[in-house]
Amino acid sequence: MATILVLHGPNLNLLGRREPEVYGTTTLEEINTDLRKAAEAAGFELETLQSNHEGDLIDTLHRGLGYAAGVIINPGALTHYSIALRDALAALRLPIVEVHLSNIYAREPFRHQSVTAPVVTGQISGLGPAGYRLALRYLMDRLRPASVAEEE
Ligand code: DQA
Repeated sequence: MATILVLHGPNLNLLGRREPEVYGTTTLEEINTDLRKAAEAAGFELETLQSNHEGDLIDTLHRGLGYAAGVIINPGALTHYSIALRDALAALRLPIVEVHLSNIYAREPFRHQSVTAPVVTGQISGLGPAGYRLALRYLMDRLRPASVAEEE
């Protein structure tokens, strides 16, 4: 069964309580539960990780090299400056969707740059929790032929 990795970066553990006017009131657990249900219903396995530590996210991506079929990542503030995370994503050579709950281009100028966006497949920004669902939909549609072919 194909595994999709879902990584959440710094401070996203506080979703629901953190600046709700910017990030909404949905918790990270609710987002993960919703994604897991949708993935499992379609025959995919979902692995989720939230970390406030850049190295944990990078280590998880390295492990993913061995088995992940696709990645959804919200790198949080690391988006704007982590060349190390960017390099780890570039090493993967998998379909990767970068998700931001808020529209980073409509916020402070320091959020307008994503150092990770050039090495991912695509980015969804500003659609709230729906962005994660759309990212999952994209990956499942893209990976389905491969996972069906594996079973045959
Ligand atoms: C975020 C946007 C980032 O600028 C910010 O640092 C976050 C969350 C988003 O989901 O909108 O932590 O990635």
